[in-house]
Amino acid sequence: MCIVVDYNTTHLTYARARGGLALDSVAVQTKATQPSLVTGVRGTRTTIALKLLMATSGIVFILFVLAHMYGNLKAFAGHEAFNDYAHHLREIGEPILPYGGALWILRTVLLVSLVAHVTSAIVLWRRRARARPVAYVVKRNVGSSFSSRTMRWGGLTLLLFIIWHLLNFTVPKINVTGGPIDDPYVLLVESFQTWWLTVIYLVAMVALGLHLHHGTWSSLQTLGWTGSAGARRRAKVAGWVVAIVIAGGFSLVPLAVLFGIVSV
Ligand code: HEM
Repeated sequence: MCIVVDYNTTHLTYARARGGLALDSVAVQTKATQPSLVTGVRGTRTTIALKLLMATSGIVFILFVLAHMYGNLKAFAGHEAFNDYAHHLREIGEPILPYGGALWILRTVLLVSLVAHVTSAIVLWRRRARARPVAYVVKRNVGSSFSSRTMRWGGLTLLLFIIWHLLNFTVPKINVTGGPIDDPYVLLVESFQTWWLTVIYLVAMVALGLHLHHGTWSSLQTLGWTGSAGARRRAKVAGWVVAIVIAGGFSLVPLAVLFGIVSV
């Protein structure tokens, strides 16, 4: 029997120890012949750098959506409280910053994070496709979660949602009922009084929940915080908590409007 061993011989030692192999020859692959997902050590290094970029930009988004979700709950406090809150957001940092200055800093951080997150996702996706140009004949998803298998399409769905969301509430602001756009609370409530728009938002929140569930786990893993059984368990719990709190919290406002609990 001939066995090809990569850098580490652990598997070989293990197989020998179990007495399961009769060896005639062992071919050890050197660095020069070892197949690689990307070319050269630099390529491997940039793959790790890209994973780190995805993880850190993802964490920026997690912090943003957590704060944004919490802010949205002001809708339960009524018309005036919600509009006051939208107004105060623009006063943060005054007089050191101009009116709306903190918001522009936030927008810049989010835009940079979005570009970093999407670009690294595309590059890693292409590297993966190049490393396996011929698809598996049989591919069973054993041990992988549904959320991990929907990261790419879910991410794309979220990107489309964010584009619509900004058109809806930020620039130019679209009130699908034909009502006013200069009153943030009225725009919010009238949007979700439109059933199909509420359905779009709720579907997007399912996509967000799935993305956050796997993304939280994955970023903790990339940062090296899943090194023990206990750490892996905590990272899994963190994935569930982040997904349920954020996607669930966001869904409360559209649902409350749909059921008439929040109205104009
Ligand atoms: C049911 C879910 C959501 C609701 C009801 C909601 C509501 C709103 C509202 C009312 C605004 C305008 C705030 C203002 O101008 O004062 C806004 C802005 C924004 N939302 Fe959401 N949002 C939701 C989910 C999300 C998600 C999941 C993301 C990102 C992943 C997101 C990203 C943003 C961004 C980037 C802005 C623009 C902030 C700015 O530049 O002024 N939103 N959202």
